[in-house]
Amino acid sequence: MTDKPHPPLAYTKPIFDESEINAVVDVLKKGWLGMRDTSTALEAAIAKRIGTRHCRLANSGSSSNLLAITALELPKGSEVITPACTFPTTLNPIIQNGLVPVFVEVTTGFVLDASKVEAAVTSKTKAIMVPHLLGNVPNMTILTDIAKKYDLKIIEDCCDAFESRWDGKNTGTFGVAGTYSLYASHHFTAAGEGGAIVSSDTDYHNRIQMYRDWGRAGDWTWTQDNRYDAKLLDGTAFDERYYFRVIGYNLKITEVQAAFALTQMKRLDGFRERRVHNFTMLHKGFTQFSDYFDLVTWEKQADPAWFTFPFLVKDSAPFTRNEALAFFQHHGIEGRTLFVGNILLHPAYKNIEHRVSGDLSFSSKVAKNGMFIGLGPHMTDDDTAYIIEKTKELCAKK
Ligand SMILES: Cc1ncc(COP(=O)(O)O)c(C=O)c1O
Repeated sequence: MTDKPHPPLAYTKPIFDESEINAVVDVLKKGWLGMRDTSTALEAAIAKRIGTRHCRLANSGSSSNLLAITALELPKGSEVITPACTFPTTLNPIIQNGLVPVFVEVTTGFVLDASKVEAAVTSKTKAIMVPHLLGNVPNMTILTDIAKKYDLKIIEDCCDAFESRWDGKNTGTFGVAGTYSLYASHHFTAAGEGGAIVSSDTDYHNRIQMYRDWGRAGDWTWTQDNRYDAKLLDGTAFDERYYFRVIGYNLKITEVQAAFALTQMKRLDGFRERRVHNFTMLHKGFTQFSDYFDLVTWEKQADPAWFTFPFLVKDSAPFTRNEALAFFQHHGIEGRTLFVGNILLHPAYKNIEHRVSGDLSFSSKVAKNGMFIGLGPHMTDDDTAYIIEKTKELCAKK
């Protein structure tokens, strides 16, 4: 380490250069901006990389979750099991679709506690919405067994977890769908915002497209010969292109975003390696502070592509979580609360219809004591050493 002041350390930062810029310029020069060949190429690249038959792009991870839940077309009032320690737009589409969230506790890895899920199942349960929060992975073996036993759909919210794996298999492939965020701070980005939904179920995939594209017929199997075979309710022959089967949205992205993301994908291997390396360096460094922090845990079969470095400030520590965040911020180390903690403690959710299965006290503890700092590929060994050095100062202070 040098004596020079350390430059501010954002928890996350997009990495791109002339290659992404040139790809964007090239697509602009083609003259068509709406989703077309580049978007199709990106969808194919994501599906291939994750290992699913299909992929559809969307304009955010949140939109991807909305599409994934909406396209299940579950009867109103159906129950969907999901953790209380989550991200708001993992939960919101459940509520927005007239479904009832059933909240279950998370593990000390901040992911759904699979051992508590079966107790939450009732005859009304139809799905499990599984966020791989901060890149970590819950026990997918238990979850897929429960899903099979009770005929439940699993949707994996992989917005924080591109290529996090369970038992060597990519998350996003264990249920009917996996969703991704291509926001600026995520594993790779579509020029700031974007999302994707992967699936191997072709009918479901077509419904995703239908809801994404205003609600118009989703399979695009029509040809010039039969495209006017669609029938309106009064029998009028109509163009399939403007034939609406569901009440949809417009959640598409643009060719410019797709060109950026497709170029970013070439960096993915290096990005993942660096994330895992930085996690290992921070985890190793933080073990010396075990009197002050509870570190994240993960299962043996999990191979997380860590999104951040999460931990809890112990109640017995001589500083609070907010004081720790302020200390890190003062030294240029950006941190955040661990998303929302227990989402039921937030005003927006005060009056939602829901059920709680078991106890959510750990999720509430996450709200009080949880935080994370960055570990993105923008961070060097010098940066992680600086964080550990400053943490030592924090712990020695009081
Ligand atoms: C688990 C999870 N789901 C969904 C989202 C939403 O993604 P986006 O910001 O692309 O809408 C996030 C955002 O960070 C997230 O962490």
